[in-house]
Amino acid sequence: MPTSSLSSSEFRKALGYFTTGVTVVTVEREPGKIHGMTANSFTSVSLDPMLILVCVDHRANMYSLLQKKKQFGVSVLKHNQQAISEYFAKKEHNAETEQRLGIHFRQTPSGAHVVDGTLLQMSCKVISSHVAGDHSIFIGEVEDAEMEEGEPLLYFRGEYRKIARHS
Ligand SMILES: Cc1cc2nc3c(=O)[nH]c(=O)nc-3n(C[C@H](O)[C@H](O)[C@H](O)COP(=O)(O)O)c2cc1C
Repeated sequence: MPTSSLSSSEFRKALGYFTTGVTVVTVEREPGKIHGMTANSFTSVSLDPMLILVCVDHRANMYSLLQKKKQFGVSVLKHNQQAISEYFAKKEHNAETEQRLGIHFRQTPSGAHVVDGTLLQMSCKVISSHVAGDHSIFIGEVEDAEMEEGEPLLYFRGEYRKIARHS
């Protein structure tokens, strides 16, 4: 259906037609305390140097943390980790729920924290940020990456999906 003037809810709905994976962006907010935020704006940017980006809402706690801390982890979720995505999409976090969901953070060789047991875990250093409307684009230089076996969690039109092989 063609639209000439989009409302913000129509725009949000339209963006949902683009299928993405789901990541958790993590920052050490104080020694040993990790803050995570679910993000599907993750995108690869450059191979040389190795750059990725993530777009963060200015209202998110993650926004001020990324401005201050300059180092973050990106963990790409597996298909059976929807509960982890839902948890890190909430503002309230606690150790009991993290334990119940089996969330463990691991420190990578370069010092960032990532969610253990996810499909891909990357450590990044913030090299620049750019204000873009109500979000900022954080460009991260990838310092290390670890991949695991498994299938990704997908996000499409506001719902979680799994991939299926094309026959
Ligand atoms: C699938 C999914 C993807 C999301 N992607 C982003 C994103 O890319 N950037 C963002 O700022 N918020 C994103 N959010 C919303 C945040 O996860 C949510 O606002 C969170 O509560 C922010 O946490 P914080 O304010 O404690 O840092 C996403 C939520 C979901 C469910």
